[in-house]
Amino acid sequence: MSKNILVTGGAGYIGGHTCKALAERGYTPISYDNLSNGHEWAVKWGPLIKGDIGDRALLDEVFDKYKPSGVIHFAAFIEVGVSVKDPGSFYRNNSCGTLTVMEAMRDHGCERIVFSSTAAVYGMPDSVPIVESHPQWPISPYGWSKFMVERMLEDFGRAHGTRHCALRYFNAAGADPDSEVGEAHNPESHLIPLVLQAAHDPEKEITVFGTDYDTPDGTCIRDYIHVCDLADAHIRALDYLADNESVAVNLGSGTGNSVQEIIEAARTVTGVDIQPKLGERRAGDPSRLVADRTMAKKTLGWEPQYSDIVETIQHAWNWMTRD
Ligand SMILES: NC(=O)c1ccc[n+]([C@@H]2O[C@H](COP(=O)([O-])OP(=O)(O)OC[C@H]3O[C@@H](n4cnc5c(N)ncnc54)[C@H](O)[C@@H]3O)[C@@H](O)[C@H]2O)c1
Repeated sequence: MSKNILVTGGAGYIGGHTCKALAERGYTPISYDNLSNGHEWAVKWGPLIKGDIGDRALLDEVFDKYKPSGVIHFAAFIEVGVSVKDPGSFYRNNSCGTLTVMEAMRDHGCERIVFSSTAAVYGMPDSVPIVESHPQWPISPYGWSKFMVERMLEDFGRAHGTRHCALRYFNAAGADPDSEVGEAHNPESHLIPLVLQAAHDPEKEITVFGTDYDTPDGTCIRDYIHVCDLADAHIRALDYLADNESVAVNLGSGTGNSVQEIIEAARTVTGVDIQPKLGERRAGDPSRLVADRTMAKKTLGWEPQYSDIVETIQHAWNWMTRD
């Protein structure tokens, strides 16, 4: 079986870390990215093809040339708030773009795909920790755009025999411990880099949205998972699909941290007394989102190696303050 793996969105945050992990395990990552949100510097472990996932002719060339034995599909727009204001671009890019990739796979006989799904497919949770069988009713076009891909993957599996692993990530965090690659979203909307930016640059502020939730310190709880643990899960998913059927699994730490705890940990790491502004709750923010990760252990044999949030934030800080 070819060791070439097509990595769409390979110039992005999670994609870059996964390419490093692929290379370390003897695979050749073929990054395919239109650089709408990615970075050429993040592609260090294999070739970069600059292109759009909606470009079927270019995908055909790439499948013909590299004959990948699997696809890891990260490419997508990721900003939930933008998806509410401009749903069309999300359905076009995330759902229709993925359909083009899936059709190219079908026509080139490529049978394995690891798909970046999200905890957003669950919507407001009825029960926490969230298990994979929890009802799915997303509350944003972003979540629906991913939900639809999961449905399409199931139909393609039945009709064409493609096998998929839908990895429902919770909150990716941290950076490569060697600082060879890290998070650089623009604009940045994730809590940890925003808190660290506030520590790094006194001009930047951080706001805590809601302090009256039903949690021990009143701030929202989220499940942060180290990006290298995510990367590891992708290789395991790829290997799993070599001789197993399709599956959807949560990827989270299984424990949550409140916004307040993140700020406290960032103070410890940076030595800066970060003082957030306290704001109102945002619409649609559940108080607690935490993964049940039993299924990931059972199917992929995956468990997070980084369980200390201070260490995760330290890696992100090392990356942000590298020379
Ligand atoms: N970061 C998280 O916490 C998180 C959580 C859940 C799910 N996800 C999913 O994981 C994936 C990766 O997220 P990320 O944080 O690395 O985001 P990212 O923006 O850093 O990476 C996405 C990459 O896809 C590329 N891309 C977007 N549209 C493209 C297109 N049409 N053609 C080619 N390339 C395209 C971008 O240029 C970028 O490099 C996304 O699918 C996202 O929805 C991320």
